[in-house]
Amino acid sequence: MLTIASYVLATVALLFIAAGLFFASDRWRHIPLMLEAFAADMIGLVLVEVVIPLQTESTDPVSGLFETDGNWAWRVVHASLATLAVVGYVIQIISGRKLARGDRGVLGFHRRIARGFVVTRVLAYVTMFFV
Ligand code: HEM
Repeated sequence: MLTIASYVLATVALLFIAAGLFFASDRWRHIPLMLEAFAADMIGLVLVEVVIPLQTESTDPVSGLFETDGNWAWRVVHASLATLAVVGYVIQIISGRKLARGDRGVLGFHRRIARGFVVTRVLAYVTMFFV
């Protein structure tokens, strides 16, 4: 049940990201959509890292990285992509705030990071089903 909730949250986050990209040139829609995607992903992260391990008395995914069962490689790939995606969010929030304050010089940087962010977030989503 909780695992399904984490899949739903990740799917909602991706839908917010897609909508946020669609409205990338409309800051009044773009910014709230991207922050909602971030919020959905952060709730999902707490669910997967804290709530599910506590409820099921299982190893949390980070500690699980050191358990070398059959899914180990996928866990490492997924955790690396998910970590990169969180770093991407932080960079985009910082550069996005600068843009919103009128510093158009960071637009090129924000766009370039956006490409890498979207690729890592989508790959983290896909690999979530293999862990
Ligand atoms: C987290 C993922 C994010 C992605 C993938 C992303 C992506 C983009 C892209 C591709 C553009 C370029 C629009 C264009 O070419 O005209 C853009 C513009 C912009 N983004 Fe983001 N963004 C993200 C988050 C944020 C956040 C969190 C903020 C603010 C806190 C923000 C603020 C802005 C602003 C102000 C613009 C300029 C809009 C305008 O043209 O007025 N972005 N974003």
